[in-house]
Amino acid sequence: MGKPARPSFIVAVDGPAASGKGTIATRLAAELGLPVLDTGLLYRAVGVLMDRAGLSLDDEGAAAAAAATLSADLLSDPALRTRAAGELASRVAVHPRVRDALLEFQRTFARQDGGAVLDGRDIGTVICPEAPAKLFVTATPEVRAERRWKQLFAQGEEVSYEDVLADIRRRDARDGGRDAAPMKAAPDAALLETTEMTIEQAADAARRIVEAARVRWEALERDDR
Ligand code: DC
Repeated sequence: MGKPARPSFIVAVDGPAASGKGTIATRLAAELGLPVLDTGLLYRAVGVLMDRAGLSLDDEGAAAAAAATLSADLLSDPALRTRAAGELASRVAVHPRVRDALLEFQRTFARQDGGAVLDGRDIGTVICPEAPAKLFVTATPEVRAERRWKQLFAQGEEVSYEDVLADIRRRDARDGGRDAAPMKAAPDAALLETTEMTIEQAADAARRIVEAARVRWEALERDDR
């Protein structure tokens, strides 16, 4: 007989573009010794594949087919980190069939032995509503645009702050307004408003929230045994 599976401590980190959720998720994962999945990369990969193939982003069937063929090596392509890829991702993410095609991969990742940290838009609401630790990370559009602008500048992308702010507002409206799994905080998510925080302060606050959730979860796990 193999070793019994360890229960999965799943940490869901949701929030809008450039809220700091990616950095927070990566740090939490390192502290907890858990793997992390940036689910935005999956949608970015679908958008980039569609774009490279010259296909319309409105073609739901083609986008779902692209989602079904994603490979792990594509996820490390730097092209996925660009400003353009964020917009492509948001546009293909409105399609329910694309979301369905990516669902199982995300759930399997989350439910692996010991658990995982996932960041995205619908992790706490749709992908892992059972997650014992949920965060919804926000900040004002202006502050998020500033953070994203600095990040893009460091990557060598020349773009104005005003254009980045317009991108952020457009993506917020599309990601939050779509019918399929819109971005929103799960009712049991802890809200983390980071406008006035440094990334260190935000990561500390996230760690405290997750530690408290872990204590509650471990107590429940013990009771179940
Ligand atoms: O987190 P990000 O900026 O890399 O995400 C890019 C886009 O992908 C985002 O604007 C909407 C979509 N997305 C989504 O719909 N659901 C997720 N779980 C993650 C991303």
